[in-house]
Amino acid sequence: MPDKSPKTIATINFKGGVGKTTVTWCLGDVLSSTSNMRGLMFDLDAQMSLTQAIALNEATGFLQERFGKWYETARQRKKTIFDALDAFTKPMPHFDFPVGFDFIYQITKNFHFIPSVEDLYWQELEVFDRDGVRGFIGRLLGKISNNRQIPPYDFVLFDCPPSFTLLSYSVLSCCDLVLIPVNPDFFASRGVALILNSLRLRIEPHPLPKIGIFMNKAKTWGNSPTKEVQFYMREVQKVCDEAAKSQAIDARFFKSYIRERVGIKRAITGGGVPPEMISDFQDLWRECVEFLG
Ligand SMILES: Nc1ncnc2c1ncn2[C@@H]1O[C@H](COP(=O)(O)OP(=O)(O)O)[C@@H](O)[C@H]1O
Ligand SMILES: [Mg+2]
Repeated sequence: MPDKSPKTIATINFKGGVGKTTVTWCLGDVLSSTSNMRGLMFDLDAQMSLTQAIALNEATGFLQERFGKWYETARQRKKTIFDALDAFTKPMPHFDFPVGFDFIYQITKNFHFIPSVEDLYWQELEVFDRDGVRGFIGRLLGKISNNRQIPPYDFVLFDCPPSFTLLSYSVLSCCDLVLIPVNPDFFASRGVALILNSLRLRIEPHPLPKIGIFMNKAKTWGNSPTKEVQFYMREVQKVCDEAAKSQAIDARFFKSYIRERVGIKRAITGGGVPPEMISDFQDLWRECVEFLG
């Protein structure tokens, strides 16, 4: 029997604005629309950028209305990720939270979404028991894959907040791959060093997932990254290799990169992934799969 469990990938970076949300969505959109893979995407950021971008779809207005209505119902019926976390942290013997399409929104037939809610902010302040939350995402994914009504997913993507929250802790304790987008600037290598050197401390004693780092917003000249981008790619590569050795972590700097294109700004809100960028995401995915083995 081939392994049917989905590949679970969390996009993180402590820096905001590097493209976590954009890249996560575009990757899911490209995979689900250009292959027959099915994907689920979580918005775990209490700032809700992904959830809002999907709600504010400007191309047709249709999705906005459909999502808006669905989201209101989910909130009223207490079927949000916050309610799931609430049920999980209750002192009860069972994790009582039935999952279905009132909890999972179907953006398209093959691309599904679990939105964020503002209440996640307050949850962070109220729950102090880190280890009480650790198993949450893993158990939730188990519930989803056990539900006969929900066809199995090939990949699950998590858009994480730019800080280390209880939910990101829970995701990092169970995902296969951490994907770190960096931008070609002075801060890239420092940011990567910071994350790579702190992840072990944060996650121990649990085993670390694999870590893939890639350049987003790469300016190109002809078919290659510009000299400046190449310089920053080498810098990040160095930091990655050093940290991998000194921290004994399985970290890799990817060869594939996502080009900088203004068209991508409207991708989530209805424009879709610019056609000329589809191959960027397919290449990134190929490298993720190869790394995961
Ligand atoms: N490859 C890219 N080319 C051009 N703009 C990009 C690219 N990736 C992201 N952006 C833009 O950068 C900004 C920040 O992206 P976002 O995904 O919100 O970052 P994060 O989730 O890390 O805070 C957004 O305006 C987005 O449209
Ligand atoms: Mg974001």
